[in-house]
Amino acid sequence: MMDGSEVRAPNDLRAYWMPFTANRQFKAAPRMLVAARDMHFTAGDGRQILDGTAGMWCVNAGHGRPRISEAIARQAAELDYAPGFQMGHPKAFELANRIVDIAPEGLEHVFFANSGSEAVETALKIALAYHLARGEGSRTRLIGRERAYHGVNLGGTSVGGIGPNRRMFGTLLGGVDHLPHTHLPEQNAFSRGVPAHGLELAEALERIVALHDASTIAAVIVEPVAGSTGVLVPPKGYLKRLREICDRHGILLIFDEVITGFGRLGTAFAADYFGIRPDMITLAKGLTNGVIPMGAVLVSSQIHDAFMTGPEQFIELFHGYTNSGTPVGAAAGLATLETYAEEGLLTRGAELAAYWEEALHSLRGAPHVIDIRNLGLMGAIELEPIAGAPTRRAYSAFVKAFENGLLIRTTGDIIALSPPLIVEKQHIDELVGGIGDVLREIE
Ligand SMILES: Cc1ncc(COP(=O)(O)O)c(C=O)c1O
Repeated sequence: MMDGSEVRAPNDLRAYWMPFTANRQFKAAPRMLVAARDMHFTAGDGRQILDGTAGMWCVNAGHGRPRISEAIARQAAELDYAPGFQMGHPKAFELANRIVDIAPEGLEHVFFANSGSEAVETALKIALAYHLARGEGSRTRLIGRERAYHGVNLGGTSVGGIGPNRRMFGTLLGGVDHLPHTHLPEQNAFSRGVPAHGLELAEALERIVALHDASTIAAVIVEPVAGSTGVLVPPKGYLKRLREICDRHGILLIFDEVITGFGRLGTAFAADYFGIRPDMITLAKGLTNGVIPMGAVLVSSQIHDAFMTGPEQFIELFHGYTNSGTPVGAAAGLATLETYAEEGLLTRGAELAAYWEEALHSLRGAPHVIDIRNLGLMGAIELEPIAGAPTRRAYSAFVKAFENGLLIRTTGDIIALSPPLIVEKQHIDELVGGIGDVLREIE
């Protein structure tokens, strides 16, 4: 029997342990979202909130798209679940084909997961297993980069480069090293698009190779544009140089495009934007417009084919998830890709990028602003931290923006922006004007 103290009110906030959230602070003054359509959320108190972040870099086609929700409902009614090991269903194959249709040349195979974090773990494991399959099993080291975010599982946390994300979790994976990050505010502050300085930072990979020997290194993983740590755009020529060094030493290059995939830079993938072909691309978020959890790894034929040897009755890769390629996820993915194609959303960012850049850089000179960065429809406004209280200023901006009807994202003292790709110029004006107001209102 429960006594009265154990009876929970329907709106009791205690049970839910929220992710990446200051739980006690939030629960003392909650911010709730209850509905969404196109460019706007509806807050719990009925206010319309302009979405400056595509949810969390994922709702690329805007909210509440009927084609996607109807496809999900139809699929759940028709075939709710199908085992994905030693069994198939048509839509998973169809979605893999549709992804390959828009992928950079040579990336012709898709392994499904359920999140960006799982896509990253999958790619890292494929890299290790690939080298083993080719008789180079000594290649076990994984190279990440400072200020990288590759999700929260143990592999992704290990190759990731965010101190607070790492320090609670022990020694993480062994055999991991990190490139230096590419954020050079002294030289590159207020760069428009790709910054001019910092190409030489790619040479750090040569030093890592010299230290560990190429024969021990399996793969390098980078976000083409680091998103979660504040939109760090790679210096001119940097990614190309990484590709060259990887090629020289037989090291795989993995692009984590969980954010940059599906049109964020005005091309289907950042690999297209930069004209570089990585060996694998990790995807999630925009793959289903954020609606159904789904991740994927695009894999080169060279890697895939290295596994397709040996007796045909043998399982080639001992890896997979209960919901890899799940019917509802596949239906959502197909409807999302159809929406992107029909509305030209994968290239819409290219049409709006100049307007976006101009609007963002109009905040140069606004209170607290020490840097502004942009590429495609990504943007960041870096604020001067309050002395002795890092992150407080950006958090105040976030709360004030929400009160004023804007959803922005903050990381450290950086405001990061990534509107849905259906954004119109008037939304950009409203978002940037609104941020200007917020910066004038906060301390
Ligand atoms: C580049 C990158 N990789 C991986 C992830 C992890 O994705 P998820 O939160 O779906 O696990 C994210 C999430 O923001 C990301 O930005």
